[in-house]
Amino acid sequence: MKVIIGLTCSIESRRKKLSNNIILIGFMGTGKTTVGKIISSCTKYSFFDMDQQIEKNAGMSVNEIFSQKGESYFREQEEKVLDNILTFNNAVISCGGGVIKHKANRDKLKKNGTVFCLKADIDSIIKRTSGNTRPLLINKTEKEVLQLIRTREGLYGFADHFIDTTGKTPIEVAHSIISIYKG
Ligand code: S3P
Repeated sequence: MKVIIGLTCSIESRRKKLSNNIILIGFMGTGKTTVGKIISSCTKYSFFDMDQQIEKNAGMSVNEIFSQKGESYFREQEEKVLDNILTFNNAVISCGGGVIKHKANRDKLKKNGTVFCLKADIDSIIKRTSGNTRPLLINKTEKEVLQLIRTREGLYGFADHFIDTTGKTPIEVAHSIISIYKG
C-alpha cells in the first residue's frame, strides 16, 4: 500500500485478460497522455505513449511523418509500435487517438488490458487541442472536428469503461480510472 499524490494505490491483478495493462484510448485532447503519466506514477506501472514511440523509431515528429510519408505510413508504424508495446505487462499505455481505426488494433487492445475510453465535450476538445500541431486538426473548423469525432464514435465502443473528462482535472480522472481498475 503506497500513497502518492493523494491516491492510495494497491493494485492486484485479477483480469480475465491476457495482460494487466491499463490502456487509454479516446479522441485527441481527451487527456490520455497526461492522465496516463499520473496513473503510471501512482501504480508504478511502466508508461508508454504510442506517439512518442513512433517518433523515436522514425526520428521525426508525428507531424513530419504525416506530411512527408502520409497517414497510411503513419498507421503502419502505429500498428508496429502497438504490437511491440503489447508484449509488455503491467503497463499504462496511452494510445494515439486514431489507433482504433483498424479492427485488428481494436481486437489486440481489448485482449491485452483493461481499456478505458476518455471522452470530453467538443468545447473541451477544441480548447485542449488549440494552438498545437496535430496533423488531422490543422485548420479544421469546429464543425469538421465534430464530424471526425462522429465518424469515430462507434470505433471506441469496444472499451471496457468510458470516462468523461469534461470539467475534471487529470488527477481526478486518474483517480477514477485507478478505482475502477482496482475494482
Ligand atoms: C491521431 C491522434 C494523435 C496522433 C496522430 C493521429 C488521430 O494522437 O496519433 O496525430 O488520428 O486521432 P493523440 O490522440 O495522442 O493526440
